[in-house]
Amino acid sequence: MKKLVGLIGYPVSHSMSPEMQNAAFQKSGLPFFYEKYEVHPDRLEEAVNDLRTKGFAGWNVTIPHKQAIMPFLDEISEGARKIGAVNTVVNEHGKLVGHNTDGAGFVKGLKRHVHFPIEHANVLIIGAGGASRAIAYALAQAGPKSIVITNRTMEKARDIHNECLRKQDSVMGLEEAEASLSGFQIVINTTSIGMKNDGSTPMDLSLLVPGTVLSDIIYNPFKTVFLQEGEQRGAVIDNGVAMLVLQGALAFEKWTGVQPDVELMEKILLEKLGGNYVNR
Ligand code: ATR
Repeated sequence: MKKLVGLIGYPVSHSMSPEMQNAAFQKSGLPFFYEKYEVHPDRLEEAVNDLRTKGFAGWNVTIPHKQAIMPFLDEISEGARKIGAVNTVVNEHGKLVGHNTDGAGFVKGLKRHVHFPIEHANVLIIGAGGASRAIAYALAQAGPKSIVITNRTMEKARDIHNECLRKQDSVMGLEEAEASLSGFQIVINTTSIGMKNDGSTPMDLSLLVPGTVLSDIIYNPFKTVFLQEGEQRGAVIDNGVAMLVLQGALAFEKWTGVQPDVELMEKILLEKLGGNYVNR
């Protein structure tokens, strides 16, 4: 019998997850089927109950439901609780458990580019929204020497520092971070600056040291101006494709207990985005 999984969000029409997940289910010979469902915020509780009644094996959650869904679930993993958002629900014999695979997916992708012990790295995270929070939490678990968060609104950076980071981590103003850029081996843009492709970047990269790993969680445009500037300065660049693929691969594993064909998932997304591997 077919096992159902899917995505709930508002809107969801742009999502490439169905193609990516269904190809991986087929490749693994698993009887799962993934579909997207547009759920208006007013109907979220009803939709969760509906998915529960229909016996869905689990589902992904996207904007604007990642926080709002939490009260309707039976259990929240420690990570999702700290991050304050759920992107993956697993139906464990009728018990709905909320997880967050966004940060762990990002870190897995980042590690493809980090060819030195992560314990030696000083990491700079730019931005303090939901994506930053997930990444900060998962990165802290990976154990770099230090994590610094910078953001236009410092209060939000301080909140993430207090709730998701460790004693040796800190917050820094944008100008100070720009001036200290040579001290970071990994720099991550989690802001939406660059998405509009209007030439704006989150930070001046004049002091970037060649060989620094420069990551942007944006995947459309495929190579943001931030990454282009970093590449010109000799950075190892990483766009948002890996995070998108690997958060999905981790959700796949939670639903099925099996590891998917990540290369296939990535190939499908790259075809749809019309891009190429970045630094691989
Ligand atoms: P998400 O949940 O996807 O991470 P978000 O919560 O809207 O998105 O966060 C967006 C991030 O981009 C924030 O860090 C935001 O800075 P503020 O916290 O100061 O708002 C940052 N951001 C977006 N547009 C910006 C801009 N024009 N200049 C500086 N920072 C910007």
